[in-house]
Amino acid sequence: MSAIIQASPLEKFSQEPLPTGDSCVLVIFGASGDLTKRKLIPGLYNLACVGCVNPEFEVLGIGRTPMSSEEFRKKTGEAAAQSKDTRDFSESGWTDFERRLHYMVGDINDRKFYQQLRGRLEGMEKNGSSPNHLFYVSTPASVAAPIIEGLGAVGLNRRDHGWARIVLEKPFGRDLDSAKGLNEVVREVFDEKAVYRIDHYLGKETVQNILVFRFSNSLFEPVWNRNYIDYVEITAAETVGVENRAAFYEETGALRDMVANHLLQLLALTAMEPPVAFDADSVREQKVQVLRSIRPISVEDVARFTIRGQYGPGIIDGKRVPGYRQEPGVNPISATETYAAVKFQIENWRWAGVPFYIQTGKRLARNLTEIRVHLKPTPQALFAGTSSRIAPNVITIRIQPDEGIEIAFDAKRPGTQLRTVTVQANFCYQTSFGSKGPVAYETLLLDSMRGDATLFTRRDEVEAEWRIITPIEEAWAQLAPSDFPNYAAGDEGPVSWNELLEIRGSSTEQLLR
Ligand code: BG6
Repeated sequence: MSAIIQASPLEKFSQEPLPTGDSCVLVIFGASGDLTKRKLIPGLYNLACVGCVNPEFEVLGIGRTPMSSEEFRKKTGEAAAQSKDTRDFSESGWTDFERRLHYMVGDINDRKFYQQLRGRLEGMEKNGSSPNHLFYVSTPASVAAPIIEGLGAVGLNRRDHGWARIVLEKPFGRDLDSAKGLNEVVREVFDEKAVYRIDHYLGKETVQNILVFRFSNSLFEPVWNRNYIDYVEITAAETVGVENRAAFYEETGALRDMVANHLLQLLALTAMEPPVAFDADSVREQKVQVLRSIRPISVEDVARFTIRGQYGPGIIDGKRVPGYRQEPGVNPISATETYAAVKFQIENWRWAGVPFYIQTGKRLARNLTEIRVHLKPTPQALFAGTSSRIAPNVITIRIQPDEGIEIAFDAKRPGTQLRTVTVQANFCYQTSFGSKGPVAYETLLLDSMRGDATLFTRRDEVEAEWRIITPIEEAWAQLAPSDFPNYAAGDEGPVSWNELLEIRGSSTEQLLR
């Protein structure tokens, strides 16, 4: 049963003028890679189609693969036409857009290359290109440092006219020490205000809406604390496997790939205090406070508070798929986890005693990312004599797919007897707005062109994330998993979520301890 909460029609908002990015040359390192084809170029194309990029906006792709600008345009055009992120692809729209794209072959480990890059950018500027430079490091974190140092060595980090900014892709380091090391390199070369550490979850409409839901309605904030909330579940389940990223995934695993950034960000937004203003520093300050309040999990506690898993062969969408160890490029005795679940405790006045259960995995039964906030049962079981069980309220923030928010509550089932039933009030983006809005990379690329860092992670935030994750990684590394693979592709994971809750304490009372 569901009641639709109708939101205001979007037409009202579409009258507002759309923002436009500053003029700039976006220099993409890793331009021949997957992210550029699948996410960055489609996002930029969408922005250009709706007039959000400046007339003086251009892209200079840098890659090791030799190709001409013509070939780069052709390759990215074919990918954009296929990408599910591209809206309304048309030949004429692409022809108009592709003239902004240029390509340059370069070895990022060769110091001489940075002189050539500087020469190329100066040449472009003489021919009328923008003096502003937005560097986008879309390469593995291990090669981010030489790029940053290379840019610094030739003075591309600071401009006497125009600006220079740098966008860094996740994962930012692979543990606390490497993240600190990379942050030092960044600090020596760029001002923190010019640094945009990207976590694309923060660009998702539904993720941005968490703050609006919490802080622009008076209904929810009074109950958003340990007095009313029993526990919180954050799940990011994917049906895809490792795809063609074995080399990256083998050294990353589910905990680093998803929990260390995307899921800790969801947790921080769910648990943070209201910021004094909606600006970069106020929002990030509150998020970092939450991350710093998470109780560190000691090596001895890791077995009690975490679960890891790896998929074996199984069935997804009716088709047989190989196990992780059989995927091309994966070590046949790999100990890399493709599933991770962690119970976090936040030690502050608002959340003490409320567990946050985080889980993520590849090749699971469903594609779903959501936050479920479970409220406590009512203090008095007034209707306990009825034959049906009274379920506590649950607020579900559906990040994707089927974006929306659902509130489950009890109602009397019509009839002569008093029976209760759980019903849902359901807000659905598609029904209320007719669309899901811009894709995450579109929002974040535009923000970085406009100089708005609110949706990017700050240096101390990234280090706080690694401070939480590193002890778990270390404990897991010390004790090789003996039961991998421990779930079949298409399963719910090594144990279903409900079983996990039961293992941790089956009753609400136990969960609170
Ligand atoms: C990326 C991870 O950051 O996020 C991938 O590296 C994962 O492994 C992806 O599949 C999930 O993003 P989304 O937007 O599809 O939920």
